[in-house]
Amino acid sequence: MTSSKIALITGGSRGLGENMAIALAKKGHDIIITYNSQKEKADAVVKQVEATGRKAAALQFDASQPGSIKKFITELKSILTKSFGRDKFDFLINNAGIGATIPFEKSSEADFDSFMNIHFKSVYFLTQQALPVMNDGGRIINISSGTTRFVNPGYSIYASMKGAIEVLTRYIAKEIGSRKITVNVVAPGPVETDFNNAGIRNAPAERRNMLAANTALGRIGQPDDIGGVVAFLCSDEAGWVNGQRIEASGGINL
Ligand SMILES: NC(=O)c1ccc[n+]([C@@H]2O[C@H](COP(=O)([O-])OP(=O)(O)OC[C@H]3O[C@@H](n4cnc5c(N)ncnc54)[C@H](OP(=O)(O)O)[C@@H]3O)[C@@H](O)[C@H]2O)c1
Repeated sequence: MTSSKIALITGGSRGLGENMAIALAKKGHDIIITYNSQKEKADAVVKQVEATGRKAAALQFDASQPGSIKKFITELKSILTKSFGRDKFDFLINNAGIGATIPFEKSSEADFDSFMNIHFKSVYFLTQQALPVMNDGGRIINISSGTTRFVNPGYSIYASMKGAIEVLTRYIAKEIGSRKITVNVVAPGPVETDFNNAGIRNAPAERRNMLAANTALGRIGQPDDIGGVVAFLCSDEAGWVNGQRIEASGGINL
C-alpha cells in the first residue's frame, strides 16, 4: 500500500482539480490546492479533503503571472512546514487552466500570451522551481487535452500550448529520471466543468449529442472520470509508467 504523501494540485478549487484532490485524499494522501480567484471554492475543497481524514491547505496562485512563481514557492515551503510538518511534497499536478473558443484568424497576440503564460510558461517554471521542494520517487502529472490529437476549431492556441506540455513532459521525464520521479500527461476529452464558460455543460443539445455519439462509450465525460486516473498515476502500482500521454476521453474521435 502507498504510504501517505503530499500532492500539490494547481487549480484545485473547481472541476477536475477538485476531483483529483478528493480522489488522492481518498487514497490516503494530504493535499495542497491552489486557486486563482475563487478562495471560497478552494476553502470548500479543503473542508471536503479534511472530511476524509486527511490534511489540506489552499494557496493563491495566478498562472498568468509567471514572475510570481518564486514568491509562491516561498509560501509553499512555509505551509509545508507549518501545516504539514514536512519540508517537501511528493506529487505535482499541473492542472490549472482556462478555455476560450477563438478562431485562428481572430486570435490576438494578447490571447496568445495569456494562454502561453497560463498553460505553458507557468507549468515550465513552476515545475522547475518546485523540483527542489519535491521528494525523490515522486510524480509529476501534466494535464493536457484530447485536442492535441484531434482538432476542435477555435482551440489553436490552447491546443498548441497543451502540445508543448506533452513534449515538455518527455524531456522532464528523461532529465530527472535519476531522481525516480515519473512525469506523465493525462489528456481528458470534453468534461462537464466550468471550463470555457461551462462550454460543454451548457452546450446546445445537438452538440452534446454529437460529442456523445463520437465517443465510443457513448456519453460526455464527468469529473469523476479523471480524478481517479491521476490518483492511479500517483500510486506505487503506476511507478513504471513514465513519459506517457494517457488520454481519458471514453474513446472520443477514435
Ligand atoms: N473540462 C474539460 O473539458 C477539459 C478537457 C481537457 C482538458 N482540460 C484541462 O483540465 C484542466 C482543468 O480544467 P477544468 O475543466 O477543471 O476547468 P475549471 O472548472 O474552469 O477550473 C479551472 C481551475 O483553474 C484555476 N485557474 C483559472 N485561471 C487560473 C490562473 N490564471 N492561474 C491559476 N489558476 C487558474 C481555477 O481557479 P479559480 O477557481 O480560482 O478560478 C480553477 O481551479 C485545465 O488545464 C484544462 O485545460 C479540461
